[in-house]
Amino acid sequence: MSDKRYVLLGPPGAGKGTQAEKLCGELKIPHLATGDLLRAAVANQTPVGLEVKPFMESGRLVPDEVVINVLMEAIETAKKKKLSGYVLDGFPRTFRQAEALEKVLKKRKEKIDLVILIDTPDEVIQERLSTRRSCPDPLCGAVYNIKSKPPKKANVCDLCGKQLVIRSDDQPETIRVRQKQYWHDTAPLVDFYERRGNLCHVPGDGSLEEVAELILQAAQTGIRRKAPRK
Ligand code: AP5
Repeated sequence: MSDKRYVLLGPPGAGKGTQAEKLCGELKIPHLATGDLLRAAVANQTPVGLEVKPFMESGRLVPDEVVINVLMEAIETAKKKKLSGYVLDGFPRTFRQAEALEKVLKKRKEKIDLVILIDTPDEVIQERLSTRRSCPDPLCGAVYNIKSKPPKKANVCDLCGKQLVIRSDDQPETIRVRQKQYWHDTAPLVDFYERRGNLCHVPGDGSLEEVAELILQAAQTGIRRKAPRK
């Protein structure tokens, strides 16, 4: 079991959730995904869920203070289980979140070991999000793709047998809002982590397996690839 801490960064649909799942399986560490935690809160109609629902449905970012609390709670829960390594997926997404995370880790004499940016072109993302299908059960949350990762039986979750759905924020207009939010609020974190010297660029347009292999290599060796020359 690894004690290293990773962040997967990238635009909506880059493959963060899919790759986090694979990396966590390899390294036997927890996958802490703020999108999944928030969707579970919405499905369970908790006070946090009721607060964040309109933000998520319209593709806007949830307020920093809410998502920071949700993530810190998840890190605490992992810590109580003596799990100090993890993969963060979908967090941080703003400077405020990145600074809050850094502050908490610093207090514990911990750090993020590697930030992996899944560099995926826009046209690939559009295609992936329009063909994504998700299990609606928050306890399962499996993600499929009718082209690249179809379920064994059409529209049925392999793991829990529920009918698969198109995520409510995977409508074309909402995808555009999420992408805009990414470029405005989250993309600047690439420079933030570049300056800290722990950012690795991984091209995200290969097959699921190719991207997974590159990410695992980066995580295991700590070798940091630079951005491709444009
Ligand atoms: P969240 O769930 O984190 O959404 P996201 O960042 O938009 O990312 P996605 O889940 O859409 O995509 P992904 O990169 O995980 O791609 P996936 O692996 O599914 O957040 C949802 C909402 O919650 C936000 O809009 C916001 O409101 C709120 N929120 C969450 N965190 C927040 C935060 N920190 N601050 C504020 N608000 C926050 O892959 C996509 C598809 O492609 C799948 O079908 C998959 O099978 C397929 N695929 C993946 N990789 C490949 C490949 N290499 N080849 C072929 N197909 C592939």
